[in-house]
Amino acid sequence: METLTGMERTNHCGELRKANVGKEVKLAGWVSRRRDHGGLIFVDMRDRSGIVQIVFDGSTQGLDFAKAETLRNEFVIGVRGKVRARSEDTINPKMATGEIEVLVVELRILNRAKTPPFYIQDGVDVDEMVRLRYRYLDLRRPEMQKNIMLRHRVTKIMRDYLDENGFLEIETPMLCRSTPEGARDFLVPSRLNPGQFYALPQSPQIFKQLLMVSGFEKYFQIVRCFRDEDLRADRQPEFTQLDIETSFLNQNQILTLMEGLVKQIFERTLDVKIETPFLRMSWDEAMRRFGTDKPDMRFGMELQDISEFVKGSDFKVFNSVLEHGGQVKVIRVDDYANIPRRELDGLVEYVKIYGAKGLAWIQYAEEGVKSPFKKFYSDETFEAIKQATGCKTGDLLLVVGDKASVVAQALGELRLEMARRRGLIDENKLCFLWVVDFPMFEYVEEDKRYKAMHHPFTAPREEDVEFLLTAPEKVKANAYDIVLNGVEVGGGSLRIYQRDLQEKVFEAIGLTPEEAHAKFGFLMDAFEYGTPPHGGIAFGLDRLVMLMAKRKSIRDVIAFPKTQSAVDPMSHAPSEVDDKQLRELSIKTAVKKK
Ligand code: AMO
Ligand code: AMP
Repeated sequence: METLTGMERTNHCGELRKANVGKEVKLAGWVSRRRDHGGLIFVDMRDRSGIVQIVFDGSTQGLDFAKAETLRNEFVIGVRGKVRARSEDTINPKMATGEIEVLVVELRILNRAKTPPFYIQDGVDVDEMVRLRYRYLDLRRPEMQKNIMLRHRVTKIMRDYLDENGFLEIETPMLCRSTPEGARDFLVPSRLNPGQFYALPQSPQIFKQLLMVSGFEKYFQIVRCFRDEDLRADRQPEFTQLDIETSFLNQNQILTLMEGLVKQIFERTLDVKIETPFLRMSWDEAMRRFGTDKPDMRFGMELQDISEFVKGSDFKVFNSVLEHGGQVKVIRVDDYANIPRRELDGLVEYVKIYGAKGLAWIQYAEEGVKSPFKKFYSDETFEAIKQATGCKTGDLLLVVGDKASVVAQALGELRLEMARRRGLIDENKLCFLWVVDFPMFEYVEEDKRYKAMHHPFTAPREEDVEFLLTAPEKVKANAYDIVLNGVEVGGGSLRIYQRDLQEKVFEAIGLTPEEAHAKFGFLMDAFEYGTPPHGGIAFGLDRLVMLMAKRKSIRDVIAFPKTQSAVDPMSHAPSEVDDKQLRELSIKTAVKKK
């Protein structure tokens, strides 16, 4: 193998343009594609900056052409050559460097490569397991390089913006105490303290609040968080937050500061202007109009209530729903009254995934109204519903009746699904929104108790404090989520900073004073030594970058992610460990080794 000595690079492949014509350049990179035309060999040469076409011409003085003939994909090479303009008919407008090429005079083969398991190029259809198994090759693909570079730019801008605004980057422990509430912990056994475990942080929540007690006033950290949850496209067992906490700011000041950050991130990376302030919508309104606390505002198709029109009839389904305090709501799908019956049947199954017992419809077809409950209502009723829901002839209403939470979930999901199917989502739109005034608690049926909807350190709205123990369902929190195109990209709140209020909230979620003391005593003790009012937020960095890169999965913006079953197919983590290691940790497993 040859070395680069004496041929250290002067330029990057992707940066060469017409202005460089005539210049001698030295490049280093990979063979992306090779086309052999007898006495001429064309190679697409790739480095981090992009791709340029280099040419080996057998008639070039002093060139070792035979060596060029041995080149294969993914060989690492260094070349010296001259930039020249391509002739009119060979210009490639799809390539940034498509107007030029480099005529090579010297080639060094720095390393050879086996034939990779898939082509290193964009848009190839490769099974994700294979991509993850050979992640180092997958990451060599230009689109993946772009994603990772974008991520770098985003974190750089975050750091700069926060620094300019007086924030300090402070690290917090990775080996923490396991605390209840939230997701399942990843545990780490302590060798020095047999039988005891650390938990990896689900977020630095308590530490960042303690930093406020310490008087740092403005903190941030780009930090890994760990949650042992069931995974989805936008969930990883370890993910990264931009975590922020401030003292002495009110909610509006925090939101405004964060809008400024988001604006800078988008303007300085994607060159798109973001209008601020963002829309702010109460949780109640979001649930009512969109059936979700993270509405995708790129399209309409809002949920509408038709309970008024359908009550008191002979149709048992709706009657029983309404008598039990439920509701009957619809979404309107424009110009789709002629939906195929087979698709309707499929939608019935679709809403069942989300707990609905059934789905009905009203088709305002040219030839008249079609509906499974047509015989139970007068023509006038169908006309009134048509008016109220803004339907025109040719439109379709999809109807779900159930208790409010089921209607919201089923129709909320159906809304997204129908928008996708009907092509209503403008992929170029960026719809930001703050969802505010979250309920403080949600009732957990299986545990028969309330649990904090955000986390138990969130401050309840002052006027609701009196209901904490008597009517927890009424209490709203000073909590906010930032939503982009239907994805929750961040969430935060103003915090409790007084011991007695914190104790009350623990009581409301069913912790006894002893439990609260055992788990969170250190925090409550701290509250007694002069704690400033404070609040903060955490952005899901992976999700934000995923949306910016227009990807469907956060795995595409994480260098080394895990699969849905939380494994790394490349390094084969997790894995079994030696008995010796287990003994040292005083751990016995009940699982037989494979
Ligand atoms: P929260 O739990 O809402 O708040 O998390 C903040 C943001 O982190 C992202 N996120 C995830 N991203 C990828 N994979 C996951 N498993 C995952 N879980 C969450 C989301 C979410 O909005 N300490 C509080 C913040 C605060 O109150 O300041 C917290 O962690 O984008
Ligand atoms: P059933 O009495 O269950 O056969 O339902 C009669 C019709 O009512 C079904 O064909 C559906 O169109 C409709 N339906 C049933 N359950 C619901 C529901 N929860 N929401 C809306 N429509 C429903």
